[in-house]
Amino acid sequence: MKIQGSIALVTGANRGLGRALVAALLEAGAAKVYAAARDARKIAAQDPRVVPLTLDTTSPEQIAAAAARAGDVTLLVNNAGVSTSAHVLTTSPAAMDADFRVNVHGTLAVIKAFLPALERAPGGATIVNVLSLSSLASVPMFGGYSASKAAAYSITQALRPALKPRRIDVLAALPGPIDTDMVKDVQLPKASPADVARALLAGVEKGDEEIYPDPMAAEMGALWNRSPKDYERAFASF
Ligand SMILES: NC(=O)c1ccc[n+]([C@@H]2O[C@H](COP(=O)([O-])OP(=O)(O)OC[C@H]3O[C@@H](n4cnc5c(N)ncnc54)[C@H](OP(=O)(O)O)[C@@H]3O)[C@@H](O)[C@H]2O)c1
Repeated sequence: MKIQGSIALVTGANRGLGRALVAALLEAGAAKVYAAARDARKIAAQDPRVVPLTLDTTSPEQIAAAAARAGDVTLLVNNAGVSTSAHVLTTSPAAMDADFRVNVHGTLAVIKAFLPALERAPGGATIVNVLSLSSLASVPMFGGYSASKAAAYSITQALRPALKPRRIDVLAALPGPIDTDMVKDVQLPKASPADVARALLAGVEKGDEEIYPDPMAAEMGALWNRSPKDYERAFASF
């Protein structure tokens, strides 16, 4: 799909990758961008095309209100995410629940609420789920988070054939480490949110079902395509 003229909605738009995605969408000519955040006052709406929206993706009431308010969306970017849990052997069930609540159930609930709007989109619509390289194999020290992102990838795959006849493409963005609050304590090379956001939108324009939006992601994506087992082993060493 063309970003130019699209009407996008980005969840978790107040900071990190979400904020960069809003900027990249404006730069690429989106007609309107709903910038959704738990606290909409944190959205810096310097551009008249930005519409701040209150949306906690774990709140059914707020999801319904957002879907009613933003009924003209053609591009839904499910970016909101958390990384609460640690290794599966040591993390608490509550921490894993927290990751699944936002990364899996929140994402799916937002998608379901926006389906009527996306189906109405003239010329079809696109959903992008911001997943992670850890959707494809676990990073053991973030095992709970990895499991939630793997589940979100599985849901992405389930939605593709269901929504294709309804003219809605469902894409997965699978970034490596990005320089945001989420991984501020992780000592690894990190891509800039602005670069990842631009590459992600380039993938949307091409209609890539799997978007690898940074250099590490591109390298790991190629490894995944060659050998999922080598990919798993590479991540096991982190
Ligand atoms: N950073 C990385 O290395 C990396 C790598 C691969 C994938 N990702 C994915 O990229 C996405 C963006 O992450 P980030 O790096 O930008 O992290 P971040 O800086 O921690 O930002 C997370 C965003 O998600 C929002 N959020 C969390 N829970 C929410 C909820 N229940 N409802 C609505 N919004 C919620 C946060 O809002 P508040 O400010 O209200 O908390 C914030 O805007 C996530 O899906 C993440 O899993 C990140």
